[in-house]
Amino acid sequence: MEYVKLNNGVKMPQLGLGTFQSNDAALCEQTILEALKVGYRLIDTAQGYGNEKYIGNALARTDVPREELFIVTKVWFRNHEDCRRSILQSMADLRVDYLDLVLIHWPFGDTYRAWRDMEALYAEGKIRAIGVSNYNADRLIDLIQYNKVVPAVNQIETNLQSQQQENREWMEKLGVQHMGYGPFGQGRINDIYDDPALTAIAAKYDKTSRQVVLRFMLQMGVVLIPKTVNPARLRENIDIFDFELTPTEMQTLSRMDKSQPLIGNPQNPALVESSAKWG
Ligand SMILES: NC(=O)c1ccc[n+]([C@@H]2O[C@H](COP(=O)([O-])OP(=O)(O)OC[C@H]3O[C@@H](n4cnc5c(N)ncnc54)[C@H](OP(=O)(O)O)[C@@H]3O)[C@@H](O)[C@H]2O)c1
Repeated sequence: MEYVKLNNGVKMPQLGLGTFQSNDAALCEQTILEALKVGYRLIDTAQGYGNEKYIGNALARTDVPREELFIVTKVWFRNHEDCRRSILQSMADLRVDYLDLVLIHWPFGDTYRAWRDMEALYAEGKIRAIGVSNYNADRLIDLIQYNKVVPAVNQIETNLQSQQQENREWMEKLGVQHMGYGPFGQGRINDIYDDPALTAIAAKYDKTSRQVVLRFMLQMGVVLIPKTVNPARLRENIDIFDFELTPTEMQTLSRMDKSQPLIGNPQNPALVESSAKWG
């Protein structure tokens, strides 16, 4: 496993397991235990995913010491006005007495109020780092300029088609770690893995196209959280630490960027409008 250092000195694994749509209680619990067995240490969940209790069941059963784990959850925007209570509930459901990272899931509603609750829990030592998700650089700068704690992390959609180069430049400047979600575009961009340039690189290293994509983003400095509930894919997605792409290969892959988010573009008015109907 490789690690990054956050702006407050906290060490964070650079690869973890995503759990969005991992909603079958038994399968989710089993997947977490299997992931921990094959070397995953970071688990990414959210209040909105409805699986914190299932993950908590696995965490209660694992032999991996708590200090080796890195547990991330996100505050749902409907909880912003009751943020503190919601985070304490997440801790109870996850069966932990502290969280490694808590993020504002979406920049909707009273985010300032939520951020102040998060700053307080951070000051009390209940959360080791606080951050945001789905923030473009403009919102990130606003939050930084008018609050005390600079977010440690911004989790945004990042994959071959949406590489977030401009946002990443801003995040580097602001000292905010780029955490990428949807590294496989949630299964919506499967044709891309047959691209001849990509398959040639994969063949050279005896890896799959998806492993090359993960490696590409790892070398860009992004924290990755591919989701799977499939044991073979769990192993495939973590087996990316024994090869290194050349600068030319990195350039080839960076040219595949279309700057087109597929899942969560917070600047899309239709998406913001539709959030009023989200649960
Ligand atoms: N902050 C946010 O707003 C936000 C939004 C979306 C996601 N996230 C986080 O980011 C994580 C990852 O994103 P995501 O789940 O949306 O999408 P993703 O990781 O891009 O894609 C997951 C899909 O790819 C499949 N898959 C995984 N590994 C594979 C492999 N090696 N070969 C072929 N197919 C594979 C999975 O199927 P199987 O499970 O059947 O293997 C699943 O259908 C989430 O789980 C969540 O933790 C955050």
